[in-house]
Amino acid sequence: MLHHVSPAAVLTVAAMILPSIVSADGPLASDKRGLCFTPNDTTRADDAVWPPALSWYYNYKPLPEPKYKDIPQSEFEFVPMLWGAPETKGDTSFVTTIQDLIKSGVNITNVLGFNEPDAPYSWGGSYLDPITAAQVWVDNIKPLSDVGIRVGLPACTAGQDGLPWLRTFVRECSKLVSTENKKENCTFDFVTIHWYGSFEGLASHMGQYAAEFPNKTMWITEYNFAHQSLEDTQAFYKISAEYFDRLDFVERYSLFGAFRSDVSNVGPNAAMLSNDGRLTDIGAWYLGKESTGVKPTDGQSVSAAVRQTVSIVSASLIGAAAGVWGLF
Ligand SMILES: *[C@@H]1O[C@H](CO)[C@@H](O)[C@H](O)[C@H]1NC(C)=O
Ligand SMILES: *[C@@H]1O[C@H](CO)[C@@H](O)[C@H](O)[C@H]1NC(C)=O
Ligand SMILES: *[C@@H]1O[C@H](CO)[C@@H](O)[C@H](O)[C@H]1NC(C)=O
Ligand SMILES: *[C@@H]1O[C@H](CO)[C@@H](O)[C@H](O)[C@H]1NC(C)=O
Repeated sequence: MLHHVSPAAVLTVAAMILPSIVSADGPLASDKRGLCFTPNDTTRADDAVWPPALSWYYNYKPLPEPKYKDIPQSEFEFVPMLWGAPETKGDTSFVTTIQDLIKSGVNITNVLGFNEPDAPYSWGGSYLDPITAAQVWVDNIKPLSDVGIRVGLPACTAGQDGLPWLRTFVRECSKLVSTENKKENCTFDFVTIHWYGSFEGLASHMGQYAAEFPNKTMWITEYNFAHQSLEDTQAFYKISAEYFDRLDFVERYSLFGAFRSDVSNVGPNAAMLSNDGRLTDIGAWYLGKESTGVKPTDGQSVSAAVRQTVSIVSASLIGAAAGVWGLF
């Protein structure tokens, strides 16, 4: 629970814990940690690495992963997401999908709103204006909130358009649910935050959310220190995990890093798996395990293996061709 936490207070807490990072090595499991699921079709065996060490996951979709769907919610909770706007206005298929899921026995208790609506598709955003988003929210999220499912405010980027987008969204949503005589707000249970940068920047960004949405629980659903040295990435990982674990108002977090180093779009050192799919130190720490000493760039990547196979195959084809030529 967040009690009147000002940006300054968040920063003070950050400053207080700085000295302790030196000793923050080794495994420290946390039930706040979840999986931000970004699988690669060439390495699906990696999907088995995360549960049940992590207690929850999301996959940017309304339906659970086939691979995880038989794991009880109490062990590895699936959190559905309404990623962006449906193609058709007035479409409420998200609501029915979630209701059907619940009817089938999946205990859905949390739902996530739009993914980076303030960013274009080319950046992975759902590029959605706040006025349209408010209507989609009223059609698809409000009915779930009304029956007691906890809902997260849309996850904007940490760019300068993020908080203004949310401000407009909240205002437009209020208009939709208010009448002339009765003013209402669209309600939500927690804010969701994305961050790619330093720890100081992260703490300050969380402070801005605390000022904008007083008393709201936070989920940090994507974060990492992108494109940094291994040393700086590991230092960032440790101090931010300790920070999140310590703050009561941070309910959950999910590192953006559940992939192999060679396919990482946030730099090779941010990945929790090495090129050949072993847990890196950060990957192990995130799962509450001892350091592995595996460097992110250790081992051969699948793409290199594919290239090698292709060159062996083409070499043998050339050889075969040469052999055929030799007959003449
Ligand atoms: C569903 O999950 C919530 C939160 O973990 C729990 O309180 C509730 O008892 C669960 N309901 C069922 C039917 O398992
Ligand atoms: C709606 O939210 C605004 C601020 O976000 C607040 O001032 C107002 O009291 C709220 N109204 C209701 C009816 O809760
Ligand atoms: C924050 O929550 C506490 C306890 O739930 C409550 O007493 C307080 O009034 C809330 N403050 C704001 C600004 O909503
Ligand atoms: C998946 O992995 C393959 C092999 O490493 C790679 O070539 C491809 O770019 C990856 N796809 C994505 C979307 O990262």
